Amino acid sequence: MSISDTMCDAINRHINAEFYSSYLYLSMSAFCDSIDLPGFAHWMRVQSREEYDHAIRLLDYVQDRDGRVALLPVEQPPIEFDSVEQVMEATLAHERHVSDLINGLYALAAQDGDFATQVMLQWFVNEQVEEEKTARDVIAALRMVQGHSDALLLLDRDMGARTAGAPAA
Ligand code: FEO
Repeated sequence: MSISDTMCDAINRHINAEFYSSYLYLSMSAFCDSIDLPGFAHWMRVQSREEYDHAIRLLDYVQDRDGRVALLPVEQPPIEFDSVEQVMEATLAHERHVSDLINGLYALAAQDGDFATQVMLQWFVNEQVEEEKTARDVIAALRMVQGHSDALLLLDRDMGARTAGAPAA
């Protein structure tokens, strides 16, 4: 059974939200690089790539369900931030927002009686739990190093060790 137009439109909008996430984290990466935190810059690059993969995962799903992918304009992300702490706070806030969007999609799929989309979205529901936890962990680490440049240097080195996750599909 093909995907409904309503569900397809909603997923297309979410594809755009994932591309925006990718763009946002790429912008944060550039900011971190500009304040000489190459580890955070690397971490954000990996994050950006993961968001791109999320968008592609959804795009593939729409096509598998015989829907029509419609790519929308991607909004410009912020360029400047106050500090690396603010970058990570904004990351957590953004991930909470994305979790709300995923929950909304899931509710729509349930209302639509679209079981396949509900099953597909379960991966995203779990992913959002991870994404929020990771952002909270980094914020906690930043709070511990506050004001100590040696500790920040070490944390930056740890952030630089992040490896890319498995690509979507
Ligand atoms: Fe694809 Fe970070 O949500």
